[in-house]
Amino acid sequence: MSVSQLAKEVKESPTLRLNETAARLRDKGEPVIHLGSGEPKSKVPLDAILACSAKLKTADIRYTPTEGIPALIKAIIRYTEETYHKAVAPENVCVHAGAKQAVYNILMTILNPQDEVIIPAPYWVSYPEIVKMLYGIPVIVQPEDGRFHPRIEDIKEVVGSYTKAIILNSPNNPSGEVYTAEFIQEMIEFCEEKGIYLIMDDIYQKLIFDGRQLVSCYDYAKDDSDNSRLIILNGISKMYAMTGFRIGWSIANKKITRALINVAAQNTSCPSVVLQTAAVGALEGIQSGVESLRQTLENNRNVMIKELNAFTDIRTITPGGTFYCLPDFRAYYNDSIALCKFLLEKALVVTVPGVEFGMEGHLRLSYCGSIKDITEGVRRIKWALDPESPNEIYIGDRKMRRDWK
Ligand SMILES: Cc1ncc(COP(=O)(O)O)c(C=O)c1O
Repeated sequence: MSVSQLAKEVKESPTLRLNETAARLRDKGEPVIHLGSGEPKSKVPLDAILACSAKLKTADIRYTPTEGIPALIKAIIRYTEETYHKAVAPENVCVHAGAKQAVYNILMTILNPQDEVIIPAPYWVSYPEIVKMLYGIPVIVQPEDGRFHPRIEDIKEVVGSYTKAIILNSPNNPSGEVYTAEFIQEMIEFCEEKGIYLIMDDIYQKLIFDGRQLVSCYDYAKDDSDNSRLIILNGISKMYAMTGFRIGWSIANKKITRALINVAAQNTSCPSVVLQTAAVGALEGIQSGVESLRQTLENNRNVMIKELNAFTDIRTITPGGTFYCLPDFRAYYNDSIALCKFLLEKALVVTVPGVEFGMEGHLRLSYCGSIKDITEGVRRIKWALDPESPNEIYIGDRKMRRDWK
C-alpha cells in the first residue's frame, strides 16, 4: 500500500506513542511510572461539566459557525481583556479543535510552499512537523549550550527573504523556560519592522511560578492596525486540565482570521458544540481551580528539582512554568532515545527523549503527576544510571537486579 511522500515524512507523535506504551504496560500489571505525560491530572472544572451536560440534554447538537459559537467568542474576548488587557473584536477570534489545530490552521493560512518558519529550540514537537506538512521549512535556532532561553541575535541571524513567521512558546514546552519581557518586546518590535508573523503560543501562560507576572505581548505591539502580524494561540487544555475537550483559539488580524475561517471550514467545519459549550463553562465559571493547579504544579516542580539536584551529574535548569523540565543527561548518555528506552526497560519509567524537542542528550520529565510518582520515578532513574547505586531495588513488589554497568 502506498502512502504519500508527505505522510512518510511526518514523524509519529512521541508523547502520544509513549502514552500508549505506558497504558499497555500498566494493563499488563507493570508498575510503570509515567514522567512523560503532557496533561494535568486535576479534575475538569464543574462549571464546564454542567454547561456541556446541559447542552447534551437539549438533544439539539448541530454544526456551529466555523469560528465558534458566539458565547465562546465572547468568553475568549473577555479572557483576552482580563489576561492581556487588550480589547479584541469577534472578527479577530477563531475557535479550533485544540491549540494544535490552531497552529495547523494558522500556518495553513499564512504559508506558501518553501516559506520558512523560525522555531527556537527546545520546541514543542509538533511545530516543525506541522510546518513540514504544509510544505514549509522549519528553521531551528539552537540556544547557547546550557541555556534554554533563545537569543535575539541568533534568531536575527537566520531571518532571510523566505522567513514568513516565528513561533514562540513561553512558558515553554519542554523546558519550562519563561522568556523575559525584554526578549518578547524585542521580538515583537523586530517582527513588526520586518513584516514577519509572530505566533505566540501562550497555552501555558497561567502556569507560572515564583511570583512571575504574566507578560502581555500586546503591551509591546505598536502596530494596532488591521495589518498587525501578531498572532496569539491559546486554549483550555492545560490551564483547566481539559485536554480531552479539544478546544483552542487564535487571535489574529481580521483579514487573516477571515481567511483562516475559510481554511477551517473546509477542514473540520467547526469544533463540537458540546465541547465549545464546556469551554464557555470553564472560561466563565469559578476560576479558583486554575490557581490551585498552578500551586500544585509549583510544589511538584520544587520536589522534582530537589530530587534531580541530588544527582550530581545531571544539570537541570529550574523551570519557571508549565509542568515539564528538561534535565541534561549527557554525563550518562548522549543518545536520548536510547536512554529513554533503557529507563523504560530497566526502571519502568516513561520519559520523553530530548531529541524530539531539538535538544539531544536531555530528557523531558513531567511533574504533573503525583509527588509519589515524581520521587519514585527519579529514585528509579538514579538507581538505573548511577554506578554507585545498590545492586538491587524493589519496584512495586518486584526485586530488580542491576546487571549492567
Ligand atoms: C506548546 C503547546 N502548544 C499547543 C499544545 C496543544 O494543545 P491542545 O491540547 O489545545 O491541542 C500543546 C500540548 O501539549 C503544547 O505543549
